[in-house]
Amino acid sequence: MGSFPGPADRPPPLLPQFAFLGRSNCGKSSLINELLQRKGLARISGQPGKTRLWNYFRVERRFDLVDLPGYGYARVSKAQRERWWQQFRAFLADPEGPAAVLHLLDARHVPSEQDRQISHWLLESGLAFALVVTKVDKVGSTRRLAQYRKIIGALDVPATTPFLPTSAEARLGRAEVLGWIDAVLTASDHGV
Ligand code: GTP
Ligand code: MG
Repeated sequence: MGSFPGPADRPPPLLPQFAFLGRSNCGKSSLINELLQRKGLARISGQPGKTRLWNYFRVERRFDLVDLPGYGYARVSKAQRERWWQQFRAFLADPEGPAAVLHLLDARHVPSEQDRQISHWLLESGLAFALVVTKVDKVGSTRRLAQYRKIIGALDVPATTPFLPTSAEARLGRAEVLGWIDAVLTASDHGV
């Protein structure tokens, strides 16, 4: 649908929106391409901070995916960072904001202080959200479970929080993420 400097300039929110949120370089754009099976639709880069705008993708006239700029990228100004947090919090609180949030976390890393903060706000917001672990191909299969426990343990979320391991590279988790989106649409009566 397009790219916008922030939520204030976005297209009218006619359909339920699913926001992809996560640290810079954690694989948000890659996962969107994998879900939609469209290489290069959302721009990907080895350099963090690739996604600077809010990018909206409409899927089958049923819902929108919103690829947000990543947080935690060191090379942005303090003012830019402040704006990011403000826009993001306003978006969460907006009745016309997201139907649900996918909080993406790189499988290789223990969640950062910002990841924890976001997770806390998501809980507080009462919005539906899922923890989506990315790049699981980078963690050996014997270490994965222990790594998942570490990630969940660092985040102070209820045990019932949906937890979805994925890899855009190894093409893992696509059906589970789409299944969760579908379940949210059905539960919230948004399904058309
Ligand atoms: P920003 O837009 O900068 O916030 O980053 P992003 O979260 O959109 O990450 P992006 O999809 O651009 O991917 C960042 C880097 O991680 C790229 O080099 C990708 O190729 C790589 N990457 C993404 N997903 C995977 C994955 O599942 N496995 C592996 N091994 N690499 C991945
Ligand atoms: Mg991106």
